[in-house]
Amino acid sequence: MESASHVSPAPVTRAILVLGSTAMRRREPREARRRFARRMIGGLATLAALALGWPRLRRWLPDADLLPPGSEQFIDVGPLQGFMAGQPTAVHLTLPDAPARARPVVFVLGSPEGAWRVFSSVCPHRACVVEYRAEEAGFRCGCHDSRFDAAGRRQSGPAPRDLDPLPHRVEAGRLLVQWKRYRPGTPESVEG
Ligand code: FES
Repeated sequence: MESASHVSPAPVTRAILVLGSTAMRRREPREARRRFARRMIGGLATLAALALGWPRLRRWLPDADLLPPGSEQFIDVGPLQGFMAGQPTAVHLTLPDAPARARPVVFVLGSPEGAWRVFSSVCPHRACVVEYRAEEAGFRCGCHDSRFDAAGRRQSGPAPRDLDPLPHRVEAGRLLVQWKRYRPGTPESVEG
């Protein structure tokens, strides 16, 4: 009796096998083209998403290079009437020796008693920039979700301390602020 391995396929079966393998060979380049096109579309979609989202993303990223070192100079940020009680106002500081793009943001908060709180917008966790959210009456850091109240006091999240207070004084009805850069990640404010 002939073993199964020696049985050659009948002519019709052979023809079917030959046609099948030819069709497979023809399909392969088409499949490869489809795979390539899918990858191209995926790659382009990723690039487009990154290009569109980058400006927003960039805002949150730690940007120690863009933070100028502390200065002894007091910078005039405007008349006191420009700052509301209970509502922090963001101010860009223009430092004399820093490049134009390095303009740190500070927040000024007035109070009905006439005291002023001035603090840095740099998150003390890893130096991302916090954003004030009026609907939450507080600040939120988009990097790791640290939260602070409207006066910059830490409420929750990984930030190890409050938003750093900045030295300031009032002269002839105008507010003057000193820029200080503090190290992130420490429980106390340490310049550096
Ligand atoms: S940098 Fe702000 S929570 Fe991490």
